[in-house]
Amino acid sequence: MEQVQVALLGLGTVGTGVWKMLVSNQDVIARRTGRFFNIQTILVRDLKKKRKVSGIEHLLTNDFEDVMKKDVQVIIEAMGGIEPARTYIKRAIEKGCHVITANKELMAVHGVELERLAGQNGVQLFYEASVGGGIPVIGTLQHFLKANRIHKISGILNGTTNYILTQMDLYHRDFSEALKDAQEKGYAEADPTADVEGHDPVRKLAILIRLVFDVHIPVEEIPCKGITDVTAAELQCARSLGYAVKLLAQAEQYGENGPISCSVHPTLLPLSHPLASVHDVYNAIHIEGDQIQDLTLVGQGAGEQPTASAVVEDLCNLERLPSAKLLPSVEPLLFSAGEN
Ligand code: NAP
Ligand code: HSE
Repeated sequence: MEQVQVALLGLGTVGTGVWKMLVSNQDVIARRTGRFFNIQTILVRDLKKKRKVSGIEHLLTNDFEDVMKKDVQVIIEAMGGIEPARTYIKRAIEKGCHVITANKELMAVHGVELERLAGQNGVQLFYEASVGGGIPVIGTLQHFLKANRIHKISGILNGTTNYILTQMDLYHRDFSEALKDAQEKGYAEADPTADVEGHDPVRKLAILIRLVFDVHIPVEEIPCKGITDVTAAELQCARSLGYAVKLLAQAEQYGENGPISCSVHPTLLPLSHPLASVHDVYNAIHIEGDQIQDLTLVGQGAGEQPTASAVVEDLCNLERLPSAKLLPSVEPLLFSAGEN
């Protein structure tokens, strides 16, 4: 059994989910990868905060220098924001650590720089959780659609707003009540303005555009309108006319290497449209390619478990862990897995 030493930056919705999944699915992971992932240290902001998992107190630190002193092979960044996440990731890469991040804001703005740095240092930088929560869209684009000429990618890329729109439309709840619910369920960003104003799906669209069209489009150049002006009356009027309103992200390229049109805004979809019935926290990504024709991926786009799934799958997909230590045999639970 290969033992992989890991540092976790952040123990909020995503970090907690990662910890829990490494405990609950340890047997499956060990059987399929031959690896045991050992979280050596966890960086948080507030050491006094009550945590949703127990038995981790001795691993917590609020000083990144403590993390750097540990002999870890992989750093998982689940803090969010540009700084200090960018600096920490750069330092980890320069130290020779593989990095897994769920941070779409950072990858949308500094993805090119970070991927270049990872390449220069011979480490892997994975970010499946940054788009579509549990939907493996980045892996699909990177590994299974390399040879297609993709001309359009579109979809619902934000779980919080899809949840709010669904609650307002189908259950007649008001906006602020539905948003509060989405926050409690762990779907929303630390500052939910990024969700409701559309900045979060814009960031995800920028990441997808880079993967699909090999072009970096600055997020501020993507036209964006969120859902704060959408009223329950409008949603119900649209439905009575045979439409659903969805916050749609789309990017289309006109001709090979031609101009790209892209945007995020509330869109009327006929109720017969496949995306019209994608409800609640579900996201959907529709890909149109010259050979594949069209493909739609649908799944839970936010929340603890789907997002942790994407992070842990990245962890399992890491190649080359040269300094891994060998354990004598398959260990039983090494984690203290208790939940409060
Ligand atoms: P969260 O619940 O707000 O948790 C953030 C964690 O990071 C907290 O544990 C916080 O520490 C820690 N942290 C933040 N800034 C820090 C700093 N400067 N130094 C040390 N620790 C710091 O956020 P989240 O929902 O887990 O999201 C984390 C990342 O995943 C974000 O990039 C987000 O966009 C992305 N993501 C989230 C979801 C989702 O469904 N929630 C889905 C996909 C991607 P304290 O606990 O001490 O405050
Ligand atoms: N706040 C984001 C959303 C989290 O609601 O989609 C997942 O990226």
